[in-house]
Amino acid sequence: MLTINPFSVLSEIIPPLVMQVFLITMIALVILGTLIDIIHKKNVKYFFENAKKAKKNATKELSAGERVSVIAKTVVYDIGTTSELGAGKRRVAHLLGMYGTILFWIASVVMIFCYSSSSSITPSVWPIIWHAGAIMTVLGGSWFWFFLRVDVYSEAQPWYRIIKADLFVLALITTSLFGLIWSFLQSLNLSDRWDDKVFLVLYVVSNLVLFGGVYWSKFAHMFYKPGAAIQKNLAEADGSRDNLPPEADAPEKFGLGIKREAPKHY
Ligand code: HEM
Repeated sequence: MLTINPFSVLSEIIPPLVMQVFLITMIALVILGTLIDIIHKKNVKYFFENAKKAKKNATKELSAGERVSVIAKTVVYDIGTTSELGAGKRRVAHLLGMYGTILFWIASVVMIFCYSSSSSITPSVWPIIWHAGAIMTVLGGSWFWFFLRVDVYSEAQPWYRIIKADLFVLALITTSLFGLIWSFLQSLNLSDRWDDKVFLVLYVVSNLVLFGGVYWSKFAHMFYKPGAAIQKNLAEADGSRDNLPPEADAPEKFGLGIKREAPKHY
């Protein structure tokens, strides 16, 4: 199973062009959902107005090289390692899910566009990346959803409580999980079996929910968070500090504060 391109096997019943159009439709849904979200929340408008205001407080004009260096460091460290989540389980779970999803999506695009006809030979590395990415996403997403959700971890809500905020993580987990099960059942090559078709339908439906639900889910955070991290670091480098007052000229002594104990007050 791990070395079989599931889309190439699928092309025996569904033409590659249909798969390619489906994938392009999913990308279009993400763009549309994000644009509607931006128009509705006005968050990007606020973001740029704030950045313009902050620029007036800059104490240093950054050269193009300095800007590139700040942006590159932000991409590699803040975004690439989701440093915002600090050290610990939350960050590990997020990295597992984030890189799993990236691998899963890249391998899907390559296998659907380059190797989806039944006559093409897929280099084994792509199906391996696709399956490994799906497994990482299921593990990271489930770890987060079952054990690390704030409303469950800290507020004693039961683990099976589902709210709108769970749409993104659940759609992400189910897409990868149904994809894996479909690929496994299809690889058994039992021609008259129907169960792989059931999981194919579930895989398609969960993709429609994931990509069609961008406006209602947290999907777009993967675009907003990097933008905010870059702006924050540029504002630090040019001295504008996002319109915050200057740092106190004294050692940081805040006491233990929220680090005194784990937040479990219920
Ligand atoms: C393919 C890219 C990404 C995927 C698949 C992904 C996935 C997720 C998931 C499933 C959640 C949990 C959502 C929930 O609260 O239900 C989450 C939360 C979060 N993500 Fe991402 N993410 C991605 C990119 C990023 C990037 C680039 C950043 C930051 C630079 C980021 C920062 C965060 C933060 C801060 C949270 C909140 C975590 C928490 O509430 O504990 N994510 N992400």
